[in-house]
Amino acid sequence: MRIVVVGGAGTIGRRLVPALREHGHEVITAARNSGDVRVDLTSHDSIEAFYRYLGAVDGVVAIAAHGALDEFTDLTADALARNMRAKFFGQADLVLTGQHHCADGASFTLTSGIFADQPWRGVTGGGVISGALHSFVLSAALELPRGMRINAVSPTLIGDSVDEFEFPGLPVVPMDELVRHYVRCVEGGGTGEIVRAYGAARGE
Ligand SMILES: NC(=O)c1ccc[n+]([C@@H]2O[C@H](COP(=O)([O-])OP(=O)(O)OC[C@H]3O[C@@H](n4cnc5c(N)ncnc54)[C@H](OP(=O)(O)O)[C@@H]3O)[C@@H](O)[C@H]2O)c1
Repeated sequence: MRIVVVGGAGTIGRRLVPALREHGHEVITAARNSGDVRVDLTSHDSIEAFYRYLGAVDGVVAIAAHGALDEFTDLTADALARNMRAKFFGQADLVLTGQHHCADGASFTLTSGIFADQPWRGVTGGGVISGALHSFVLSAALELPRGMRINAVSPTLIGDSVDEFEFPGLPVVPMDELVRHYVRCVEGGGTGEIVRAYGAARGE
């Protein structure tokens, strides 16, 4: 299959892209400043141009753009909306625009995160983004045309980011397990699934 991975040069992407290639897929990587093709998830015009350039693809995987940390007592509705721009609205736009460009039966695999289900201090935006993505996936799965599928992988802290993010006590998902979830979303027949990759408590 011809698969585009947005965020393919990132921490998850560096593991996923070789795995998809080992499975025989043609993989194109994309992002703002890295990978084979340029796209900025904050810009609808950029997403539209990206799909026109790509032509039909059989799969779109989005592993790009984090929600920012926030402080609830200082948070404003405007800041929340800005936080949602790339990771929620950008991924939603990849699907809303992509449905008109992708091949029959194409799959969309989005990335959310554990804070949709397990609140944590300082990540109200992250939780809201991921919760909204889960609802978006459920609705889109009902209405996507031409046999297209959509799923989301919702990771906890990933193995390769343990030293990067300070979330003491948050469980960790091993990278090989996480990659298997993405590959199954691309190759399997499922749709409307939220794959909760919530790993195990550290030390287990
Ligand atoms: N790492 C974790 O522990 C973890 C846990 C749960 C969920 N997640 C989620 O998984 C996703 C990927 O995480 P990661 O750790 O692999 O991230 P990462 O290492 O920061 O990589 C993200 C990639 O996205 C691209 N990107 C950022 N903003 C973009 C935009 N506006 N448009 C297009 N591309 C953009 C970046 O490339 P350019 O700079 O070249 O654009 C980068 O290669 C994120 O949504 C993150 O929130 C991660």
